[in-house]
Amino acid sequence: MERIEQLAALRGQLAQWRAAGERIALVPTMGNLHQGHLTLAQEARRHAGRVVVSIFVNPLQFGAGEDLDAYPRTLERDQRLLEDIGCDLLFAPQTTVIYPHGQREQTRVEVPGLSEILCGASRPGHFVGVTTVVCKLLNMVQPDVALFGEKDFQQLLVIRRMAEDLNLPLDIIGVPTVREPDGLALSSRNGYLTAEERQRAPALYRTLTEAGRRLSLGKAIDAVEQTALMSLRDAGLQPDYVSVRTAIDLMPATHEDNDLVVLAAAFLGRTRLIDNLRVMQA
Ligand code: PAF
Repeated sequence: MERIEQLAALRGQLAQWRAAGERIALVPTMGNLHQGHLTLAQEARRHAGRVVVSIFVNPLQFGAGEDLDAYPRTLERDQRLLEDIGCDLLFAPQTTVIYPHGQREQTRVEVPGLSEILCGASRPGHFVGVTTVVCKLLNMVQPDVALFGEKDFQQLLVIRRMAEDLNLPLDIIGVPTVREPDGLALSSRNGYLTAEERQRAPALYRTLTEAGRRLSLGKAIDAVEQTALMSLRDAGLQPDYVSVRTAIDLMPATHEDNDLVVLAAAFLGRTRLIDNLRVMQA
């Protein structure tokens, strides 16, 4: 597997594959790879003959006071993991390759509305950073498909909307969340948790599962959200939000909607965890 850092070299390799008629899949990541990322890359193989994984810790999607500096950078280890699963190319650009004119002067891509609710309300500017970098990576690689984890459900929908609105000629594929045996969704940020916080962390998924069960019983949505907030607090988490939304566009849900998602974000100490659960109603 080749590791490429420059755009010209990336384009050269991709042109050869395209000339040979091969389909290309892209899995954008920020590195510090875990089984969730590796599952995305393995799933990518089912959609394309060539799998490209990008690793770029995107400063544009971190707010002031967030964990940009602390974010784990483990490139050599990540490269070995990708080699082991038969990934074809690792694209690992420096910041100057992605933002040659600097971040402030960078043209932005914004999905209004969908980017401003839930995590977007708590992290202003975050999704503009995500859509800007993902749009750039998609233009650099020009893949036939790109894959994203459903753990970041809002991110997946924002990226889908961007691709649709900008008529990007590719399929955006969401891949189910990979979990620890106790239910905790895999995330690079789990590494920040102390041993004691790690013990409490599965309460997030447990709470979502219980909320899903209560929704299926027909309990009022507002009551389901309030109970979930309480159970997170009881477990020692500080909830940012718990919200029941329609899975198609994240609008506030009613019991008339049949494809729902319960989304939650909560702090455990200084670590912000997110998770979600899809709930289908008959
Ligand atoms: O989900 C992530 O790791 C990032 O937000 C992404 C999609 C790679 C953009 O930087």
